[in-house]
This record gives sequence, structure tokens and C-alpha cells, in this order.
Amino acid sequence: MRIVALQSSARKGGNTERIVRLIEESLRRRSRREGFPLEFEYVALADRNLSLCRGCRVCFDRGEAHCPLKDDLPGLYKKLLDADGAIFASPVYVEDVTAGMKNFIDRMAFNCHRPAFAGKTALIVTTSGAESSGRAARTLEFALGSWGFHIAGDRKFRMGALMAEADAADKFGRDADRLAEKLSRAIADKKALTPSFYSLMIFRVQQSIYRSAPQFKGTYDRAQWEQNGWLDKKRAFYIPHRANPVKTAAARAAGAVLAKLFK
Ligand SMILES: Cc1cc2nc3c(=O)[nH]c(=O)nc-3n(C[C@H](O)[C@H](O)[C@H](O)COP(=O)(O)O)c2cc1C
Repeated sequence: MRIVALQSSARKGGNTERIVRLIEESLRRRSRREGFPLEFEYVALADRNLSLCRGCRVCFDRGEAHCPLKDDLPGLYKKLLDADGAIFASPVYVEDVTAGMKNFIDRMAFNCHRPAFAGKTALIVTTSGAESSGRAARTLEFALGSWGFHIAGDRKFRMGALMAEADAADKFGRDADRLAEKLSRAIADKKALTPSFYSLMIFRVQQSIYRSAPQFKGTYDRAQWEQNGWLDKKRAFYIPHRANPVKTAAARAAGAVLAKLFK
């Protein structure tokens, strides 16, 4: 099982790293106990060279390989594509994710048009000082969902300015265990192959739009949809899936109606 943890605080040994490390330790114990191999890679976004998105739309219009910014994004993208699961962890800064995480989300936005992560599983972790409205988690949930990730768990940790390592383990060790269990179980049980009604419906909306909306005719996005076989009438999701046929048919019918509103 290959897991990549992307963490967006610049503070080494900070609250967010502490929680990610607790989840890592729990996954390692689980891997020894249950006998599955584990590769875990921790990535601090602050240590990577990631320029700000310029909004040129080249990734949308010509493909991500043509992005004019030559930095660490392609390497991080590949790491995530090669992993079975990912942990996205951010401190809450003024009620949302940090600028580093938001920039990463923006740089990866081409995945909202051509989701490459269907079949992959993610955990969302946010840490805050005193309170958290959930907006940071929702920012991540929206992005990861639209890139195709199955979200196995989501937890907000209230930790003050800086929680001592032992206190973090005492207070949040069990929560970290639960998240590790959710992530490893969802991957082992291939839960990402059973998309939700909502995901199936959104696929149908996108399929209908890319198939016939005039503004997408001749675009790179449409060509990718065609090349991936996603415009095929029998195709109900980005990857072969295991969703119940009745649920799939109902989601597709709802998606077809919804798509008419977007045209
Ligand atoms: C610039 C900045 C903005 C913050 N905004 C909030 C906030 O809106 N709500 C909150 O509860 N905590 C806020 N905090 C506190 C952090 O979210 C919290 O201490 C977090 O766990 C720090 O994680 P780290 O140690 O991994 O950097 C803020 C901290 C900083 C530095």
C-alpha cells in the first residue's frame, strides 16, 4: 500500500505534522500487524518549489505538460498518481486552508476538468487553534472530490498555537488510529470503486456537456474525454466501477436532467 501525505504548514514539527506522523505511526503498526506492505512518503509543500498559478489556462487548453511554470508540480502529481491513497493536511489560516495548499489546489485544477484520481482514496486533515468552521475541510473536500478521489475520512483537530508532542499523542492518538483504519480499510476493500450517487450523477453531467456543448467543441478537454472513452454512451464513470446498477441508472437519469440546465 503506497500512501503520500501532503502537508501544507511551513512549521516543521508543528501541529499538522504531528497529526500526520501519528497517522503514519498507526499505519505502520497496522501494516506490521496485518502483514500488508506499506510505503509512506511525507511531503511538506513548503519544502517544494511550487510557483503561484498564473491563470494562463494553458493546462486547461493545451494540457498540463505545457504549463509554463517549471517546478515541482509534475513530480508531486506523479507521486499522487502512483499512490493508492493520500493524506491532505493543512492548518486553518483565517478559516481556510493555507495559501500553499490553495496554490497546490489551483495548480492541479486541470483535474477538475479531467479527473485523474478516480479509484484513489484520500483523507482530509485540518488543524486549528481555537475553532474551525469546517471551511478549510470543505475547500479540500470540493477539490479532491472533483479530481475523482474517494474521501475515506475527514477530521478537524483543535490544537491551540502549538501542542506538545506527548499531549498530541495522548489527546489525538485514537483519532489518528481511526483515520488510519479508515484509509487502510477503504483501500483494501477498494471502496473507491463504488462511486456515490453524486459522483455518478456529476460524471453524467460532464459527459453530456463535453459530448454536445458547443463551447467544448475542439477543446483539449473534449479530446481527452474522447480519448479516455468517457464520452461512450455505455460509460458511467471514469474507471470500471462496482456501483449498484439501479443506483447508477438513477444517477445517470438525474445527471441527464441536470445537464440540460447547464447547456
Ligand atoms: C496566519 C494564521 C492564521 C490562523 N488562523 C486561524 C483561524 O482562523 N482559526 C483557528 O482556529 N486557528 C487559526 N490559526 C491557528 C492554526 O490554525 C493552528 O495553530 C494550527 O494547528 C497550526 O498548525 P501548524 O503548527 O501545523 O502550522 C492560525 C494561525 C496562523 C499562523
